[in-house]
Amino acid sequence: MKNNHFYVIDFDTTFVTVDALEELARIVLKSRPDRNGLLDRIKHLTQLEKEGEISYQDSLAQRTSLFFPNRKHIKTLVTALNKQISPSFARNKHFFKEYSEQIYIVSSGFKEYIAPVVATYGISESHVLANTFIFDDNGDAIGYDENNLLSQNQGKVKAMQALRLQGEVYAIGSRYSDYQIKERGLAKSFFAYTENVRREGLVKLADYEAPDFDEFLYRLKLPRSQSYPKSRMKVLLLEKIDQRAAEYYEKQGYDVKTYDRAMGEEELINEIKNVSIIGIRSKTELTEEVLNNANRLLSIGAFCIGTNQINLEAATRKGIAVFNAPYSNTRSVVELTIGEIIMLSRDVFDKSQKMHRGVWEKSADGSREIRGKKLGLIGYGNIGSQLSVLAESLGLDVYFYDIVDKLALGNAKACRSLDELLEIADIVSVHVDGRKSNNNIISTPEFKMMKQDAIFINASRGSVVDLKALVKALKDKTIKGAAVDVFPEEPKSNRDPFVSELQGLPNVILTPHIAGSTIEAQQNIADFVSNKLSNYVDNGDTTLSVNFPNINLPTLLSGHRLIHVHQNVPGILARINSIMANNNLNIIGQYLKTNEEIGYVITDVSSTYSDKVVQELVSIPNTIKFRVLF
Ligand code: NAI
Repeated sequence: MKNNHFYVIDFDTTFVTVDALEELARIVLKSRPDRNGLLDRIKHLTQLEKEGEISYQDSLAQRTSLFFPNRKHIKTLVTALNKQISPSFARNKHFFKEYSEQIYIVSSGFKEYIAPVVATYGISESHVLANTFIFDDNGDAIGYDENNLLSQNQGKVKAMQALRLQGEVYAIGSRYSDYQIKERGLAKSFFAYTENVRREGLVKLADYEAPDFDEFLYRLKLPRSQSYPKSRMKVLLLEKIDQRAAEYYEKQGYDVKTYDRAMGEEELINEIKNVSIIGIRSKTELTEEVLNNANRLLSIGAFCIGTNQINLEAATRKGIAVFNAPYSNTRSVVELTIGEIIMLSRDVFDKSQKMHRGVWEKSADGSREIRGKKLGLIGYGNIGSQLSVLAESLGLDVYFYDIVDKLALGNAKACRSLDELLEIADIVSVHVDGRKSNNNIISTPEFKMMKQDAIFINASRGSVVDLKALVKALKDKTIKGAAVDVFPEEPKSNRDPFVSELQGLPNVILTPHIAGSTIEAQQNIADFVSNKLSNYVDNGDTTLSVNFPNINLPTLLSGHRLIHVHQNVPGILARINSIMANNNLNIIGQYLKTNEEIGYVITDVSSTYSDKVVQELVSIPNTIKFRVLF
């Protein structure tokens, strides 16, 4: 015995997500033509009993008279139930194993299927209080033991009375009959478990609501898989982030709220209170004012590439880690660019438009294959380098220019200057970032330097190309054609009109900033950013964080991880370590990284720590945030 406490746990819609007797009926009646009617009747009887319209005894007698299981059916049910353990029970298996002597499963279901399911969690049959079938020699159930206390009205109460537990009892369940254990003074407190079914009336009667089993373990200070129950942590996802993100967090038990739209400052100031994780795209601005109201925010996910919409300095000062998706849509941009290179080399768009108007113009004039042509990439980052690989496999010769030394992939050749690239390339594609110094890097002199029939593509930033110069180059036939996806000024929404001097020019492909917008990219972004945020919240990992010092941490397998974020001033690590030494904490690993603003120290300790250590660590001057993980 670890202490003198006992934990009484309900089975149906608590330990497992379903009502097992209903599942059993489904299995037994599978091939019966009148199956649906019978199942409805069984459901209805369960409901009547729950609503107090009929007694439990009546309900059980009537339900079991509608179907007769045999041992084989029960075996099938056990296999099915093993796959339907409530997620928060499944992730806390070690608690069951450790405390098995103090746990009782008390259920008005049947022992024949409950015992084998909970046995894999270390609970012995003697700790399962439930009904029992009576079988004949063929293994067919011919009834149930009516002397079993659990087959009677108030069965759980009677079974608990008979058990005479000597110690504090804590009960958790999803039904009124579980609450009765507490009501009759047989438990110190009752937790209404709402992960599978939320019964408002029961929540009102309960001492606590447990949206998952972690909450029960957390409140009772028991060993658990989550340092802090996820159900206590709010996730706010705005701007129609792919639903995979919400599903990802819901699966872990977070309290998730999603909105399809962006939010203005005032609304956000209200909404961000008590939120632990916020996910936004490009239209929601996280200003300093908003962040000042974010009392529990741990991490921001920009489910997009850019992070200009976030006040990164303010986030850093407040110890909030920001993550984005720097390359989840790279492939989408690359694929569109390849397509455009081919379309422009063949005048496809103009020809198609003419066809729509009834003009048949079959001619090879000016139409070229892309094989053997020279593709010049300005910027050899995520997109440039990926395009390099794909283009080469289509037979293009790739040249690139980047202001930073970059490893040339495949047979790509680095140019020493932009001019060199412009002169050599048949196709020029821009993939630089949006830094200020890149404003209008492609203007009239650059177009003049290009080959007469060059093709020009910009799917990077609207600001890097002088549009007037591009229009002139196209009109003067300095270049053959262009594809433009990004513009210096873009309509704010799909309702606003698009106006540009590029409209109506021949061999110009215009797209509304969608190079990176594909279903796959949205899904990749949702997966990537959700994962990064989770890794930070659960493990402290800051790999690829936009504003935190990047540390790739090993997963903590045992012990505790103490995470300390502080202003980057000298001496903090020494203070942390002297507190650890004074309190006899055994450090098993320590990681430190700083950037200009903050220091990030992770200390893994093997021993348990006291509240005093936590207080001392939090009180170190210049501390921004402190948290503990298991
Ligand atoms: P990245 O940051 O990985 O690569 C940019 C590269 O450009 C870096 O290697 C950098 O050194 C280089 N560079 C910067 N200024 C330069 C200059 N003046 N001359 C030559 N090289 C220069 O960025 P990534 O992911 O490859 O994205 C490239 C651009 O594409 C970005 O501007 C990004 O915003 C844009 N983008 C557009 C999308 C769309 O839907 N149209 C979707 C995704 C990205």
